[in-house]
Formats: sequence, C-alpha cells, structure tokens
Amino acid sequence: MRTPGTRPIVSDIGILSGEADQSLDTARQVSSESDGRQMVYLETYGCQMNVSDSEIVASVLRGSGFGLTRDPDSADVVLINTCAIRENAEQKVRRRLETFRSRKQKRAPDLKLGVLGCMAERLREKLLDEEKLVDLVVGPDAYRDLPNLLDASLESGQSAVNVQLSKEETYADISPVRYDSNGVSAFVSIMRGCDNMCSFCVVPFTRGRERSRPTASILDECAKLVDAGYREVTVLGQNVNSYRDGVNGQSVSFAELLHRISLLSPDLRIRYSTSHPKDCSDELLHVHRERDNVCNFIHLPVQHGNTAMLERMRRTYSREEYLALVERARRIVPGLALSTDIIAGFCGETEEEHRDTLSLMEAVRYDHAFNFIYSERPGTYASKKYEDDVPEEVKKRRLSEIIELQSAHSLESNQRDVGRVLRVLVEGPSRKSDEQLCGRTDSNKMVVFDDAGFVKGQYVDVRVERCTSATLLGTAVSSGANKLEASSPATTVGAPQ
Ligand code: SAH
Ligand code: SF4
Ligand code: F3S
Repeated sequence: MRTPGTRPIVSDIGILSGEADQSLDTARQVSSESDGRQMVYLETYGCQMNVSDSEIVASVLRGSGFGLTRDPDSADVVLINTCAIRENAEQKVRRRLETFRSRKQKRAPDLKLGVLGCMAERLREKLLDEEKLVDLVVGPDAYRDLPNLLDASLESGQSAVNVQLSKEETYADISPVRYDSNGVSAFVSIMRGCDNMCSFCVVPFTRGRERSRPTASILDECAKLVDAGYREVTVLGQNVNSYRDGVNGQSVSFAELLHRISLLSPDLRIRYSTSHPKDCSDELLHVHRERDNVCNFIHLPVQHGNTAMLERMRRTYSREEYLALVERARRIVPGLALSTDIIAGFCGETEEEHRDTLSLMEAVRYDHAFNFIYSERPGTYASKKYEDDVPEEVKKRRLSEIIELQSAHSLESNQRDVGRVLRVLVEGPSRKSDEQLCGRTDSNKMVVFDDAGFVKGQYVDVRVERCTSATLLGTAVSSGANKLEASSPATTVGAPQ
C-alpha cells in the first residue's frame, strides 16, 4: 500500500481550472511539466453524480502524487468515467475506448487505459478478458484503491480490477478537486446508491445499496465552498431526497439537511438532484417555501403517465398520487418550477397508455423535461420478466410526440416570464457572444443579457424581454444586492404556517 503523497505533489490544477478555489485546493502551484509524475487524463460521461465522482477521483489521484492533464496526447494514463443507463450511452463510451486503444496500439504502447464508473461495474472482467479493450476496471465504490491499482498496472504491465461495491463508502472525507467548475456553482454528493429497483433501471446494480453521508461533513464542504466564493450548490444522490443520517440517536432528514445548508449563507443558492416522488415530503416542501435560498425548483421524474405502466416500472406511485403531489407542492410552494424525466416505449406500452403520458404532461405543464426511448438493460427486472416489444419506429414516434408537447409547454412557461424582473446568478459569458452574460434563475431557467460590467458569481436583476423555448433574453435593471433576500434565522423546519 502506498501512503498518500509519496510522489511529489506539484498540482497542475491551474491548467485544469483557472478558477479552482484555494481553500479546497491548497497545492495550487501551476506547473506545465510533469516533473516525472505519471500524468492522468480523465474524461466523464453520464449524470451529475459521475461528474462529482470524477472530482473525487482527481483528488485521490493527486493526493497520491499523480498529475492531471487536459491533453490526452501527453497522458500516461487515460481514464474514462462511464455511464450504463442506456445502450447508446455505452456505445458512445465504446467508440471512445476504441479511439484510445488504436492510439495505444499505433503510437503509445505504454499508455494505460482504464474504465471507471457504471460500465466498469456492469461489465467487470468482460472489458478485460473478452473485449481486451482496457488495462484497468474500477467500480464507483473503489476509487480509493485507484492509485494502488494504477501503480500495480504501471509496474507489472498487468491489468487490474476492483469492482467491489460498498455499503458504507461515501467519500465523505475527500475534498473534491473542482477541475471543471465555473467557480460559481458546485456539486456536492450527499448519498450514494439506490434501493428502489425500478424495473427498467441499471443503477441499483452499478451503484449498489443506498447510503447517506454524515451531515457534518456535508455542512463542512458547503461552508468551505461559501468561503471560496461559490454561490450555488447542487446536492446530489441517485435518490437524493431519501437522505437520512442518524447520529447519536438523532436523525437528520433531507429536509433538515437542506435547511441547515441554507443557514450557512443567504448568498448560497441550493438545488438538488434527483428526487423521487415517494420521498417528496411536506416537510421538504415547507423548506422550499420558507428558505429563500432553497430554489423554487424540483426535478421530479414521473417516468410515465399511466398507472399500470408505473406499476410495471415499479415506481411505487399511481398517476393520481403523482398528480396529487404536484398539486400539493404547488399549493405549498407558490410559483414552484417543475421538471421531469419520461420514458417512451417501455415494455407493453399501448397507444392508449402512451396518450396517458401526454395527458399527464398537459395536466402538469412541466417547465422542462428530459425524455428518453426505453432501452433494455441486461440484468434488470424488466429484461427478465417483460418483452421489449414496442417497435423502434413506434418508440421514436412516441418520443417525438412527447418532445413536441414539452417544447410547447417550455415555451409557454418562458413566455409567462416575459415582462418580469428575475434574479439571475451570473455564470459567465454567454455561449454565443462575449458581450453577453448568462446565468440561471431560481427556477433553473437560463437567461442571456448584455454585459454591463457584472462579474461571475454576482446576483443581477434582469427584465425578461424575449424568449425561446430554451432561453430567456433580457436586460439588467440593477446589480442586485448580492443577497437573495434578508434571511430570517428560522430554527424549525417544515412547521406549517
Ligand atoms: N435516480 C433518478 C434517475 C436516474 S437515471 C430517478 O429515479 O429519477 C435518469 C433517467 O434515465 C431516469 O429518470 C429515466 O427516465 C431514464 N432511464 C433510466 N433507465 C432507463 C432505460 N433503461 N431506458 C431509458 N431511459 C432510462
Ligand atoms: Fe433508477 Fe429508479 Fe433508482 Fe432512479 S429511483 S436510480 S430510476 S432505480
Ligand atoms: Fe449513468 Fe451511472 Fe449516472 S448509469 S446516469 S453514470 S449513475
């Protein structure tokens, strides 16, 4: 076992992110040379949890003396943090692996190629033995072991695997290296794994059992982010609102955790992803209502609009229960924005059942939605018990109907904001023009407006003048007080008024 720091630590993190914060990343000397260190290039696919995991991987590697580089051509080690959620996500990764393998064969025989994350967990030794694609396979709970595995592989030339899942690992004590961050918003993982076993989903198999990170370590990380100038955190988990930490006989719920984070600073906005409707409690909704810096936005995946389909999907709620939840959420939290995930063409879906999804969308009128074609995943309940029997063209047509309807609803939602003054957290220059800035509203809408000398991380009040279905366009009317609003020192959570 190698102890951390036996290699010289000269961080090249300045190359990776000009805005990396100093308190989280104390060894921040910029070096363009590898100083004899093995240099690692890390590429990430999949969800926000994977992005957050890559920040942990970067921290573990750097703590063991590896260097990080943005240039795959100069790397000694290439690691791909992968996603297995749908077939096409895996195909994308395979194509990337092929590219690196061919580079290794033609030009860089010593290059080590590693697969991390959900595909590593799903395919395990198959990636090494049958497909001979890679040298290293490391699952999401084994990142602490990565330096040892890499050392072993670099020294012996052998391949190395650790896909052990854990019931405890939360990486609570590891300070993530925020190498792709804009310096304004950061991800903070608060729980890992999922116990829900939705019949279509591979995540419980790739991420293991649910476990929550200790509250104190989460608050500590968020406080450091505030000190480092961050203005927004998105707390993450596969089923984030089932978070529960039990210490000394006292239990901290997700609602209580959000409340405590919200007290750290009135300037810090809080979001979360991804929540499950079964855990969207009234206590949580009251935190949204009472704490100005807990955003008025919930991503609340429904997956389908028909109760029989929801049962087959094992989602644990009916259409009626979901609609009642939406009604309750909007009553408790006025102006609440909602987004969702929807799957088209799941096993046995009839035309009528598909129309129920469309009618549920009409009933809810989401501000935004992520829509997917069902993709059978080996090992899941659905793959064993149901037939993937909706023809591909029918799946595609149903998906396009869902997308079309959502575009109309997104446009409608944005049009309602035209004429309003909304507070925007500046993230940086807009993608299209350096003379314009962009940032998000509390409800997670992207706003583009002329740069009048504002800086990243500042709150700016913007009058919305026009919109598309994806973006609001407007003009700044003030610089904002750099406060969300005077925050009251509330001590109880969720007490109905
Ligand atoms: N934990 C989150 C979602 C994780 S996966 C939740 O429960 O909401 C993100 C989304 O991918 C899911 O919400 C679902 O809509 C979609 N998804 C998951 N498995 C899928 C599959 N086999 N085929 C198509 N879409 C899938
Ligand atoms: Fe997958 Fe369901 Fe868990 Fe979400 S809640 S990760 S869809 S099993
Ligand atoms: Fe993909 Fe794994 Fe996230 S399967 S969606 S990277 S949890």
